[in-house]
Amino acid sequence: MTDMKLRPAPNTPEQETSLTDRSSMNRRQFMTYGFNAVGGVLAASLGALGFASILMPPSGGGGEESGVLYWAKGREDEAWYGAKHLQPMAKSDFVAEAANSNVGMAGAQGVWNGLPVVVTYVPHSENGSSPIADNVPRFQFMAGNDIAGNYVGHATEYMMNNPDVFNADNNLVMIFSRCTHLCCIPGWQLVSNSFTDDNWTPGGGDGGGSKMFCICHSSRFDPTAIEVNANSNRSTGQRFTYLGVRRAGGPAPMGLPIIPIIMNGDVIGASTEFKGWLTYCD
Ligand code: FES
Repeated sequence: MTDMKLRPAPNTPEQETSLTDRSSMNRRQFMTYGFNAVGGVLAASLGALGFASILMPPSGGGGEESGVLYWAKGREDEAWYGAKHLQPMAKSDFVAEAANSNVGMAGAQGVWNGLPVVVTYVPHSENGSSPIADNVPRFQFMAGNDIAGNYVGHATEYMMNNPDVFNADNNLVMIFSRCTHLCCIPGWQLVSNSFTDDNWTPGGGDGGGSKMFCICHSSRFDPTAIEVNANSNRSTGQRFTYLGVRRAGGPAPMGLPIIPIIMNGDVIGASTEFKGWLTYCD
């Protein structure tokens, strides 16, 4: 396959140089992105129906749970879940795939109520009581600051007040996959570079791999770094705070919101309770 260089968004000269050197994708990956981008445009074109109507389950109303399906279109031969395209996500699949990882992590693109998501398996139960070290991934609960640098809140406190929003004992985190930069669809190992390598460093910074990566302008997000942050409703401008994963680098101004997981046995479902967090894109 032909490798094509990505063009990072204008940023610091240092970032621009390093990213241009390190980021590339092959033609199939580019086509995959193209499809995803079109999907994003189509979703945006549903504005007449309203965001809530594509988010809500067919039965309507609030608070329902709905299944999460694998999304591997265009990557059937490459993704570990390629043969499971549009099948329900199962935790046991992630556990099995994580056994092939150096650090015991596994992630997959998904679709939930028509929205793009990424589910990542993190061996938190196994590693959470071990000394913090490279390549021993765990969930990290952190303080978050908004784009102006103002403290928004701490994940631990937020989870105490909202116990249903995230359960680290599941070893799973589900993330709304619309970039906070310009609403492209970040992915799990859709491209190969130092940010997506099969390794991990603590701290929620830009070192190490196992990041979600947005190929539009190279933003990175750490699915293990749980924080509180703030964003705004695209239509109304109303600010909201949310529990999400940390932006590790790139032009995205803040991290991506979590979608609360509801397990039905081995099957991964999700709650619409915090759908307001998903309103920063059209
Ligand atoms: S849309 Fe620009 S980095 Fe994601």
